[in-house]
Amino acid sequence: MTDLPNVNPDCFDPITAAGLKPATSSTHKPRILLLYGSLRERSFSRFAAEESARILTEYGAETRLFDPRDLPLPDATDAEHPKVAELRALVGWCEGMVWSSPERHGAMSGVMKAQIDWIPLSLGGVRPTQGKTLAVMQVCGGSQSFNTVNQLRILGRWMRLLTIPNQSSVARAWDEFDDQGRMKPSPYYNRIVDVMEELMRFTLLTRDLRDHLTDRYSERVESHAALSARVNQSKAV
Ligand SMILES: Cc1cc2nc3c(=O)[nH]c(=O)nc-3n(C[C@H](O)[C@H](O)[C@H](O)COP(=O)(O)O)c2cc1C
Repeated sequence: MTDLPNVNPDCFDPITAAGLKPATSSTHKPRILLLYGSLRERSFSRFAAEESARILTEYGAETRLFDPRDLPLPDATDAEHPKVAELRALVGWCEGMVWSSPERHGAMSGVMKAQIDWIPLSLGGVRPTQGKTLAVMQVCGGSQSFNTVNQLRILGRWMRLLTIPNQSSVARAWDEFDDQGRMKPSPYYNRIVDVMEELMRFTLLTRDLRDHLTDRYSERVESHAALSARVNQSKAV
């Protein structure tokens, strides 16, 4: 193997780069928030989210389902609105999320996107989504598509969530649920169990490592620079 040169000391600060934090071991039930993207009375994306919540409960999670009815469009009002405050509190509470959207015109629904757009990247110096787990799901009226889950993955990355590899896309969703809104036994149902099982595993494995997994060198450099500027300024006064 050829010897690689050392890192450039002009741009790499080893003191800022150092530091592995030990993990603690939480014992409470993993807290999972489920969002769905439809206001329809008989909504298959909601049924899929409800079915997921049942499976997660069986696996030992504590679950909450957010009802998007009466959530205003982003920027139509301020964040004091009770539905916005409720959504943000749930995002702060959870350790992992499930996003279940219908596919509409080859994309996620506006109801789904509006919820995600109300979730801030940073809230009072805290990043509420960063390092939490995410499972993405979609329901289709037609044949199986992955457009919506692919888009949800992009949003998950944007919000610094740990999006798990497995995902669910239920084709012809109108044929997969009974009159009570319960999912019929099928390979699609089994796939949702797979996804929830994987979400539980990733949540249990990562929730105590969240700070460590999301600790970024470039941001430590920035905060180090801000701190130095402040200290130097106070010295100068
Ligand atoms: C305006 C509109 C556009 C739609 N576009 C698609 C689509 O691109 N692909 C698809 O598979 N289904 C499409 N559908 C069907 C919905 O995905 C399907 O009805 C789904 O069950 C809606 O979700 P919900 O039951 O949670 O309300 C569309 C439905 C509507 C009303």
